[in-house]
Amino acid sequence: MSDADPKKRIAFLSREIKAADALYYQDDNPALSDAEYDALRQELVALEAEYPHLISKNSPTQSVGAKPSGKFGKITHSVAMLSLDNAFTDEDVADFVARVKRFLSMDKAAPMAFTAEPKIDGLSATLRYEQGKLVRGATRGDGKVGEDVTANLRTVRNIPKTLSGQAWPDVLEVRGEVYIDHADFDTMNEAQVAAGKDAYKNPRNAAAGSLRQIDSNVTASRPLKFFAYTWGEVSAPFAQTQMEAVDLFSKWGFHTNPQMKLHENAAEMIAHYHDIEEKRAGLGYDIDGVVYKVNKLALQDRLGFVSRAPRWAIAHKFPAEKAITKLEAIDVQVGRTGALTPVARLTPITVGGVVVSNATLHNEDEIERLGVKPGDTVEIQRAGDVIPQVLRVVEDGGGVITLLPQSCPICDAPAVRDVDEKTGRVDVVRRCTNGLSCPAQAIEGLRHFVSRRAFDIDGMGAKQIEAFYEKGLVKEPADIFTLEARNEQIQLNKWEGWGETSASNLFAAINDKREISFARALYALGIRHVGQGNSDLIAKHYLSWAKMQTALQNAKAHIGEDWADLISVDGMGEAAAGSLVDFFNAEQNAKVIENLLQHITVIDAEAPSSDSPVSGKIVVFTGKLEKFSRDEAKAKAQSLGAKVSGSVSAKTDILVAGPGAGSKLKKATELGVKTLTEDEWLAFIS
Ligand code: IVH
Repeated sequence: MSDADPKKRIAFLSREIKAADALYYQDDNPALSDAEYDALRQELVALEAEYPHLISKNSPTQSVGAKPSGKFGKITHSVAMLSLDNAFTDEDVADFVARVKRFLSMDKAAPMAFTAEPKIDGLSATLRYEQGKLVRGATRGDGKVGEDVTANLRTVRNIPKTLSGQAWPDVLEVRGEVYIDHADFDTMNEAQVAAGKDAYKNPRNAAAGSLRQIDSNVTASRPLKFFAYTWGEVSAPFAQTQMEAVDLFSKWGFHTNPQMKLHENAAEMIAHYHDIEEKRAGLGYDIDGVVYKVNKLALQDRLGFVSRAPRWAIAHKFPAEKAITKLEAIDVQVGRTGALTPVARLTPITVGGVVVSNATLHNEDEIERLGVKPGDTVEIQRAGDVIPQVLRVVEDGGGVITLLPQSCPICDAPAVRDVDEKTGRVDVVRRCTNGLSCPAQAIEGLRHFVSRRAFDIDGMGAKQIEAFYEKGLVKEPADIFTLEARNEQIQLNKWEGWGETSASNLFAAINDKREISFARALYALGIRHVGQGNSDLIAKHYLSWAKMQTALQNAKAHIGEDWADLISVDGMGEAAAGSLVDFFNAEQNAKVIENLLQHITVIDAEAPSSDSPVSGKIVVFTGKLEKFSRDEAKAKAQSLGAKVSGSVSAKTDILVAGPGAGSKLKKATELGVKTLTEDEWLAFIS
């Protein structure tokens, strides 16, 4: 024994192990080697065996099996992992092709090559190879930051640990889908059930559960497979087309999808889609659509991205799965913005492998349109991750139609349908008028605040938020950050369902989010019309939170320079701008924000790359552009850090004027704004 006093030594070891656990699980950066950590644990176990009366219930040995928050380290993707826009009809596909050509200023009838391949229903992962060796693997996460699951991905048998062939770039991130095929899924689930565990609902869930095991031996025992279909960071370009890139992946040792084909036009792409749809049941793995991608990588580059999805690709989804069941009751839910939503409670039924027991009825107009009543037999549909919907009444159950109540079912305040001042139109949504004084709105707001795309606080879900709210401990976001300091009174570790470990994990998860990006902090506030996309735009526009707050205060009356500046943010509508300004100028919200800011640090958004001559400049395009489409010119300017505005003001830095320019050119000349022709602009930015 290394210490004369076993009690002290046990306390010391417990502290060290807990600190190491926190570093290991919450940061990227374990402080101890595995061997050092194991030695500490073994010593503690031995001591406790010798002096059982000294075992504290807070000892790390007593919390084995408790899930630490943030099980895996974080990995920031050097190239974001994007999602895809969806197409649902043949027409959507034709529109996509036309849109791509228009953006590139190409003739409608010009041939253009697209790849088409199955959209695998698994989970995406990225694999980083350096000098041909697999060095890291991560999940997609929120697209910017994923989880480090290297050890687990190494156990996937068809992922090469070393690349074969030659001429791969020194740094190569191969991306694709981790999935489990049907035959393996059945065998695996039989084993799960035989071992007394719950069967997985579908192969996708089984793949996700298997990849996120703490013990990679468990992952190794699962039949995971990987299809490679795209890439992230590469040290050098390695192909000129999508097809060529995927062919190289296959030469370097990856499995690629044999159903991938090259097409010249929308008609061919759609025919291939229907062909894959017919083969779907016999493929042996789940797919949920077909992905089309522009084949030429140089064109992909020009097309770029809109918020989180590339302009050069689209997912053509298979039609939603439908089923018939009984509607037992219609409940009313109150959302974050006070919206009353009728929810159909259904006799549970399996739709496309998932048990569905609730479906949305959207609003009271929809109840009337469908003529749906409790007791009716209804047809429902479920498409991907979208909330299931009621499509129609199949058989009348003889009940009576009930619309929404005129008062909030939670707080009893009046629930009204707003009337648009300008158009006189009545909003389809009925809303509780009680704001954050309505418990339902407050709780929904807090749930949103901690949700994955917002503060993403591990261990703080709907249930926990409700419990904290009901006990009066968390009424507004700031209260979350004072929970730990108040724990002497709260004693969370003594609550039912909580222990020392889960409580300290929750506090660690909260502390982990005291620094947060501008966009996440804004999105977390749950302002109407200010979703992830708009939050990103706003953060990029103002860069600092303080600057935004000042501007929004100045724009209070929806007039003036700061208001004009806000609505000129490309991609953001006036409804969002109005909602943002009103939110920040409402006294109650101002207080909530001020309280929150005492506990968190909002990290400024990154200024656009400053080595471009137009970085931070406000640019306006007018007249006809001849070399590029207006959209491409705008996208290019934005990618160089310029802010593109639709109107000329004293703040405009550059006006790019093509032939036919009129009033904007005149105004710019009057204001002395620098004016360039398209060619001069190209020379300027090149
Ligand atoms: S390409 C930049 N190809 O679908 C393009 N994605 O809804 C990135 N997916 O996150 C994706 N099969 O997980 C691509 N053949 C395929 C795919 C595929 C499945 C998934 C992927 C992505 C999601 C987007």
